[in-house]
Amino acid sequence: MKQSIVIAPSILSANLAALGDDAKAVLAAGADWIHFDVMDNHYVPNLTFGPDLCKALRDHGITAPIDVHLMITPVDGLVIPFAKAGATYISFHPDATASFDATIDLIKSVNCKVGIVLNPDVSLDILEFLENKIDLLLLMSVNPGFGGQKFMSHILEKARAARKILDRWSTPVRLQIDGGVNIDNISDIASTGIDTFVAGVIFRNKQEEYATVITELKNAINKGIGK
Ligand code: DX5
Ligand code: ZN
Repeated sequence: MKQSIVIAPSILSANLAALGDDAKAVLAAGADWIHFDVMDNHYVPNLTFGPDLCKALRDHGITAPIDVHLMITPVDGLVIPFAKAGATYISFHPDATASFDATIDLIKSVNCKVGIVLNPDVSLDILEFLENKIDLLLLMSVNPGFGGQKFMSHILEKARAARKILDRWSTPVRLQIDGGVNIDNISDIASTGIDTFVAGVIFRNKQEEYATVITELKNAINKGIGK
């Protein structure tokens, strides 16, 4: 099932001192979602932010989907706080929770959309157990933990394979990529059937340049879809 194209700038690369206004500006410039990277210095070595910052964005007037990417273990304790804070999607790494089925049910019970995240070295075998249970599959194209890393090009093949599997399911699933996405590789990434693009690069530009960067990324995606 074809999904619309989504650009999700990652606030990991934003200037946190100016986050509220920069988030509004990036959405006005054509971004679709805000990607919200949550790290715990345990599942990954880095440490970022929690539900309070998500709520602060909502209180600041951000109405676009907030795409929460949990890189934490355990997972379940933060699901309800993030739902209350205004998360739209909650995605987690299955190896970070005791029962991924229970975590999926918990996320659904608080009316959030569910995403499963697979690290670069994790196979697609788990999809066998996820049919029609998730809203989004996120393929990591770097090892999680830090922005600004290099895209692992072998993930292109994995993305193609994932798209084929998801297309056989009866419920629509977004296929998302996260890590090292840039203007030079986004066209090839789009050609695999990825429809949802996390990108740190957008916030690494000045506010005045967001619209140009997003337009360039979207144009390159459209070229890739035609390939
Ligand atoms: C990495 C994060 C990414 C990161 C992407 O662990 O999940 O969302 O912010 O940043 P770039 O696009 O710079 O790789
Ligand atoms: Zn992320």
